[in-house]
Amino acid sequence: MLIHTRFARALSTNPALHMASSLPHPHLLRPPSSHLRSHLLSPFSSRFLSFSSSPSSTVPNPSTKNFKTATAALLEIGGVKIAKEDVVKEDDPTNNVPDTIYSKIGLQLHRRDNHPLGILKNAIYDYFDTSYSAKFVKFDDLCPIVSVKENFDDVLVPADHVSRSYNDTYYVDSQTVLRCHTSAHQAELLRKGHTHILVTGDVYRRDSIDSTHYPVFHQMEGLRLFSSDEWLGSGMDGTSYAATDLKKLLEGLAKHLFGTVEMRWVDTYFPFTNPSFELEIYFQEKWMEVLGCGVTEQEILGRNGRQDHVAWAFGLGLERLAMVLFDIPDIRLFWTNDQRFTSQFSEGKLGVKFKPFSKFPPCYKDMSFWISDAFTENNLCEVVRGLAGDLVEEVQLIDNFTNKKGMTSHCYRIAYRSMERSLTDEEINQLQWNVREAVQDKLKVVLR
Ligand code: DAH
Repeated sequence: MLIHTRFARALSTNPALHMASSLPHPHLLRPPSSHLRSHLLSPFSSRFLSFSSSPSSTVPNPSTKNFKTATAALLEIGGVKIAKEDVVKEDDPTNNVPDTIYSKIGLQLHRRDNHPLGILKNAIYDYFDTSYSAKFVKFDDLCPIVSVKENFDDVLVPADHVSRSYNDTYYVDSQTVLRCHTSAHQAELLRKGHTHILVTGDVYRRDSIDSTHYPVFHQMEGLRLFSSDEWLGSGMDGTSYAATDLKKLLEGLAKHLFGTVEMRWVDTYFPFTNPSFELEIYFQEKWMEVLGCGVTEQEILGRNGRQDHVAWAFGLGLERLAMVLFDIPDIRLFWTNDQRFTSQFSEGKLGVKFKPFSKFPPCYKDMSFWISDAFTENNLCEVVRGLAGDLVEEVQLIDNFTNKKGMTSHCYRIAYRSMERSLTDEEINQLQWNVREAVQDKLKVVLR
């Protein structure tokens, strides 16, 4: 997967900041597992900041829908009522939202005070409240169904950018998406006159499958405006003033969450900020991106009536921060109702280390097929997840060749593992059989 650098970036590795390190536990997070995801960034980045640059279909693929999961009939989020038919539209070729995704809308893990994501959100709130005497206005209940304009145009994502593709984003219809980042709310909140904002929410991206990637995850967006009297006395220009303030604030946040930790700034690119940075933390012998940020493009401020200001903004991925803080080894665990997981976390207790209650054996199944031009790994993963749900732990490309006739073969290894119980051979054989059939049928590949 990923690495999907949805926003193509110039990734440099200039360390700008180092603090002493005290790093726990190796190997919770892994490097990109396949070359398809090996573009520029670490697994962290792919979630936080990056949007996929993997091969993308520009045409919706309704065939990858799954209609198996039972879901609630009506949801209400931030006062908006959402029926399943509003999101999953079997007959609309511009819709690519499967039932499995609909079933996640409205769960709002980040609003549960005893859930690791809620605990983390509250710890970040505490930091901001202390540093800014509660000036930041917090939103955590904004509806995740947004317009294409809000999700992309309003934050200056170019019209031909890969992140807009049906391969990467869940479209409700041609003008409406499930937000793929919390930046989708920046423009509206600016127009409403806010100057200090934190927006937390579930975000949705079509993606590959492994222990750090899940098609629904959570982000927190921050945005802060400055008026000219704030920077004029400093001797700096507005942009430098905002960038300096931003870096200081986020270094403080990392320290607040992690204690002493080694970190560095990396210059990068986002359409909505200039300059743009990523903050990386050294963890388990690797540098991991934990957030993306920068000085907001003046055009965004101008379009929304704040031309005389400068602003900084950031977006951080809650799952990966929480995986590090709580030692949670697999992103699927955030979604489990198993009490052996949920009972280990309680309100206000940041950094309690998760004690694995079991390690059931994985079951590996390989599948080879001749691909067609339209084949994408994200579509494959959607089919597999549609049938196997959270039993699928990883889908990894292990072989790839093109024969003399120009036909390309892929071999994928699917790892099945339940976090709750042992799987029987019979069950997995049946599941794999169904997966093979569905892959052949829906993705127009030829099994080998
Ligand atoms: N929206 C970016 C993403 O999801 C993250 C991000 C980067 C948000 C920089 C920001 C920002 O507000 O300034 O990949």
